[in-house]
Amino acid sequence: MTLPLNINGKDFDISARPTDTLLAALRSAGFFSVRFGSHDGQTGAAAVLVDGQLVNSDVMLAGQAVGHKIETVEGLNPGVNELHPIQKAFVETGAIQSGYSTPAMILAAKALLAQEPNPIEAEVREAFSGILCRETGYVKPVQAVLRAAAYLRGEEVPPYDGPPIIDATFFVENPTAPDEDAGPELTGGESGVQTETKPKTDILLTSGVPETAVVGKPETKVDAVKLTKGNPAFVDDIDLRGMLYAKLLTSPHAHARILDIDASEAEALPGVHAVIHYKNVKRIKYASGGQSYPNPPPHDQVSFDNKVRYVGDRVAAVAAESEAIAEAALKLIKVEYKILTAVFDENEAIKPGAPIIHDEDDTEEIHDASRNIVHHIQAEVGDVEQGFAEADHVFEHSYYVHQVQQTPIEPHIAISWWDSDERLVIRTSTQVPFHVRRMVAPLLDLPVRRIRVIKPRIGGGFGVKQEMLIEDIVGHLTIATGRPVRLELTRSEEFRSSRTAIRKASPGKRVSWRTARCTRCR
Ligand code: FES
Repeated sequence: MTLPLNINGKDFDISARPTDTLLAALRSAGFFSVRFGSHDGQTGAAAVLVDGQLVNSDVMLAGQAVGHKIETVEGLNPGVNELHPIQKAFVETGAIQSGYSTPAMILAAKALLAQEPNPIEAEVREAFSGILCRETGYVKPVQAVLRAAAYLRGEEVPPYDGPPIIDATFFVENPTAPDEDAGPELTGGESGVQTETKPKTDILLTSGVPETAVVGKPETKVDAVKLTKGNPAFVDDIDLRGMLYAKLLTSPHAHARILDIDASEAEALPGVHAVIHYKNVKRIKYASGGQSYPNPPPHDQVSFDNKVRYVGDRVAAVAAESEAIAEAALKLIKVEYKILTAVFDENEAIKPGAPIIHDEDDTEEIHDASRNIVHHIQAEVGDVEQGFAEADHVFEHSYYVHQVQQTPIEPHIAISWWDSDERLVIRTSTQVPFHVRRMVAPLLDLPVRRIRVIKPRIGGGFGVKQEMLIEDIVGHLTIATGRPVRLELTRSEEFRSSRTAIRKASPGKRVSWRTARCTRCR
């Protein structure tokens, strides 16, 4: 269907499916400032103005916007190299980190200032309350809005000189200072008035803050204009002809062997171009983490395995003309599982008789697969046995790290295609482009020189994107179909399937320490 939408004061006819969200419709029309964060509006990254009200376009159907005035940040852009006062204030105050949530924040500010031209800080914070920002901490965005309000009121606004610099004058212990415990020395002074002199305990190393040209001074972010204007900047901000959409079939079981997969019905579904799984993808071992070369062992993963080891583990992937067709195809894939006993506690996992998670014979260098111990690191300093023998006290303890999910607002997303030099290009939201390139090469059976990894701006990483997570999947699908392929994880897939969060702290990682403590030598 074609929807007549009024966007930034102009009328557009946008083709959309009845189930398409306003977010999908706007992005299909090139409004890339409107960003995906989750399917339930929780991040606020897809916020737009509808009749002046801030609305999450990822929880609004495109059809519902017909007859309403939609505003995106692109509508604020006065012209090339010109900025709207709100954008100007965001640039000046440095209120932009990844920039993924910035357009939504700018629209929230616009809606607020249209109602309240002279807001107080609390009102600004309230206006931002529906927009999750993982980096700025909201301090500078709040300053930016208060500054923009002054601009819009036509006031003289002083240059922004950044947050106050704390005078970090350094004091160091003065070894010749008299003992403080001795208390202050009383001296007569000219006035004969008993005055208390502070013992000269510290030597003043520097006084005040050295004058600097750049350090400590506000510096405009190199791509601040691009980010405040919502110009294309992130992985998904491109249009590729004939792009296919991938969806992942993941495991509903915590531990199971895949006895068989039948994807014939899914492959026959109109619009489906490929279905990949352990039966049609080469079994090449790798380890998805590891920022060093060669990749640290154990190499206990393959792109698609005939065993699943956690709920959310990969089972198959589909590439189709649309996400909706890909999702429909997932439901047609028949998987025969043999459910195995799962283990959810690390102490149970190392006990004799516990289910063995990695019982395959082609995994190299697991410390003790029979006890599910992937790594054993022994660190000793000095003659430990002698230390223990002489120690007054020996402390032994186990430390647990709980599961983490770094939750960048931009989920994992990767797009791959063949370029005109017939190199495989992978444009991905990663923190480790060079590792990704050398890790996917053997999995895709391509020499590294025939793979180009593009890492544009990312909407937050925090370590969860320091792993080759989905790039091999889009690579396999582009090789299988010859077409560009896009895969974006949903928020729940981020929580369930981003191995970094799972591997790093699968059900409680135990680290045991024994330290000798001697009261004499500390
Ligand atoms: S600047 Fe807000 S999510 Fe990055």
